[in-house]
Amino acid sequence: MKILITGGTGYIGSHTILMLLNEGYDVIVIDNFSNSSPKVIERIEFLSQKKVCFHEGDIRDERFLKSVFKEHVITTVIHFASLKSVSESISMPIEYYDNNISGTLTLLKVMNYFGVNNFIFSSSATVYGAPSRIPLDESCDTGDTTNPYGTSKYFLEQILIDTQRANPALNIMLLRYFNPVGAHSSGFIGEDPNGIPNNLFPYITQVAIGRLPRLSIFGDDYPTEDGTGVRDYIHVMDLASGHVAALNRQHVLTGLRCYNLGTGKGYSVKEIVETFQKITGKKIPYIVSARRPGDIAECWSSPELAQKELHWEAKRSLEDMVIDAWNWQNKNPNGYLE
Ligand code: NAD
Ligand code: UFG
Repeated sequence: MKILITGGTGYIGSHTILMLLNEGYDVIVIDNFSNSSPKVIERIEFLSQKKVCFHEGDIRDERFLKSVFKEHVITTVIHFASLKSVSESISMPIEYYDNNISGTLTLLKVMNYFGVNNFIFSSSATVYGAPSRIPLDESCDTGDTTNPYGTSKYFLEQILIDTQRANPALNIMLLRYFNPVGAHSSGFIGEDPNGIPNNLFPYITQVAIGRLPRLSIFGDDYPTEDGTGVRDYIHVMDLASGHVAALNRQHVLTGLRCYNLGTGKGYSVKEIVETFQKITGKKIPYIVSARRPGDIAECWSSPELAQKELHWEAKRSLEDMVIDAWNWQNKNPNGYLE
C-alpha cells in the first residue's frame, strides 16, 4: 500500500509525511519546489531515520505523473500541491487557476488511467466565504469566495463532487483546514514563506527574530470582543494527524466525504500577540492599520463531524502552537536558507 503525496515538501505536506513515515506508511512524494526547499527531504530523513522516495516534477505534467504511477503501485493520493497566497492570486489569477485546477484535473485523469480510487484533498475554510453562521459546520453554505485562490478551492470541491458522482468507485475526502500554524517540536521542519509573510503567525515570528520591524494589525473595529479578527488556529501536527485519521478511515467512509479540520476555538489577533509575548518574552511592536480587503471578522469550526467519523480531534493548545512556531523560527532565523 503506497500513498502518493503531492506538494509533499511544503509546510503541511512535510509534517504529514513525517507522521506517515513514523507510523510505517510507504510514502511516495512529488513536488516541483515552486514554494519549498529540497532541504525538507534531508530533514524528514533525519527525523524519521528513513529514506524518502521523492520524484521532482509538476502535477500538470501528465507524462511525469504517469511515470510515477507506473513505477509504484499507488493506492491513495493525498493532494497538497497548490499555490496558496491569497494576495498573489488576486494579481495572478490565471497562474492560480492553471496550477490548482489544471494540476488537479491532470492528477485525476492519471489516477483514473491507473485505477487509483482513493483521494484526500486539501481544501480550506476559505470555501465558506463570509460565514452564514458560526461555528462553521460542513453543511454551511460555500462559494461566496473573495479571491481566486479561495475560488480555485471552491471550484475544485465542485469538480471532485461531480467526478465522484460520475464514478461511485471513487472515495474522496475534502478536508477543510482552518488556520494551520506551529511546527514539529524538533524545530527541524516548519513554515518558510517566500518573501514577506501574508499570514499572522509567520509575520509575528519574523518580527520576534528581528527580520521585520513591527506587525500591522489589520483592523481593530470588527464586531469581535477586542475588535480584531478571530480565527481557529490549528497546530500543523494536529492537522497531520487528521490526514492519518482520514487515511485510516477511508475504507469505511467511502464515497464523497467532507470534514472540517479545526479546533473549534477562536482567538483574536490581539490574543495571539499577547500569548506570544507572554510565552516567548519577546516584545512584538505593532500598529493598527486598515482592514485587509477580503478579510472576515471571525471564523471558527465545528470539528464535531471529524471527531465522530474520523475519530480525530486537535489536541495541542495555543501555547503549544506558539512554543513550536517560535522554536522553529529561532532555530532557523532564515527558514531553510542556511
Ligand atoms: P505550501 O506552499 O507550503 O505547500 C504546497 C507545495 O506544493 C509546495 O511545496 C509547492 O512547491 C508544491 N506545488 C505547488 N504547485 C505544484 C505543482 N504544480 N506541481 C508540484 N508541486 C507543486 O502550502 P501548505 O501550507 O503546505 O498547503 C498545503 C495545501 O493545503 C495547499 O493545497 C493549500 O492550498 C492548502 N491549505 C493551506 C492552508 C494554510 O494556511 N497553509 C490553509 C488551508 C488550506
Ligand atoms: N492579520 C494581521 N496582520 C497580519 C496578518 C494577518 O492582523 O500581518 C490578521 C488577519 O486580518 C486575520 C488574522 O490575522 O484576522 C489571520 O490572518 P491570516 O492571514 O493568518 O489567515 P487568514 O484567516 O486570512 O487565511 C488563512 C490562509 C488562507 C486560508 C484560511 C482558512 O491564508 O489561505 O486561513 O484556512 F484559506
